[in-house]
Amino acid sequence: MTKRVKTAILISDRGSNMQALLDACKQPNFPAEIVLVLSNNPNTVGLEVAEGFGIETHVVNHRDFSSRKEFDAVITKVLEERGVELVCLAGFMRLLSEEFIQTWRNRLINIHPSLLPAFTGLNTHERAIERGVKFTGCTVHYVRHEVDTGPIIAQAVVPVLAEDTPDTLAARILVEEHKIYPHALKLVASGAVRVEGEKLISISS
Ligand code: GRF
Repeated sequence: MTKRVKTAILISDRGSNMQALLDACKQPNFPAEIVLVLSNNPNTVGLEVAEGFGIETHVVNHRDFSSRKEFDAVITKVLEERGVELVCLAGFMRLLSEEFIQTWRNRLINIHPSLLPAFTGLNTHERAIERGVKFTGCTVHYVRHEVDTGPIIAQAVVPVLAEDTPDTLAARILVEEHKIYPHALKLVASGAVRVEGEKLISISS
């Protein structure tokens, strides 16, 4: 089997996207292996789920640090000690420093519950309903300093229904998130795509 890309997942909460990635990585010949799940939140159920998969977990609690820079530097150290090559943010609810984003440039990906570049930031589903858009969805992208920007790797479109509440819309989008995140990880880890300028290029084999 070809070498698998050593990947870490950073979470803050329930970790359903993390679970979708862990499930995908169990497949033989998947090009990534999850070597670590790291959380800033010591009490999240996601850590227990990861342990159930037999994955090493680690907590770096942001409350133990007086600055974002120090917190991020410890995360980088933990990742480097394990030889991590690629980092997936999956509901990691801390803003990351310029240094961290630079260190992991083009090796750091995120999932966001909207069709970027629309609805960056929080409360995406409320805002999509309020704005009256007919379609929204989810996006996996490389991380850049400006929040929820960066080259787009994969997207899925979800219709907004007249009767939708933020919760019903979030639930339908989450189903798609669980499909596109493993798909995007596969594209990146297999080398099927790369970043050129600020755009994703497919590599033909
Ligand atoms: C997801 O909606 C993801 O798009 C956003 O945070 C949420 C995390 O959910 N970044 P989960 O922890 O993966 O269940």
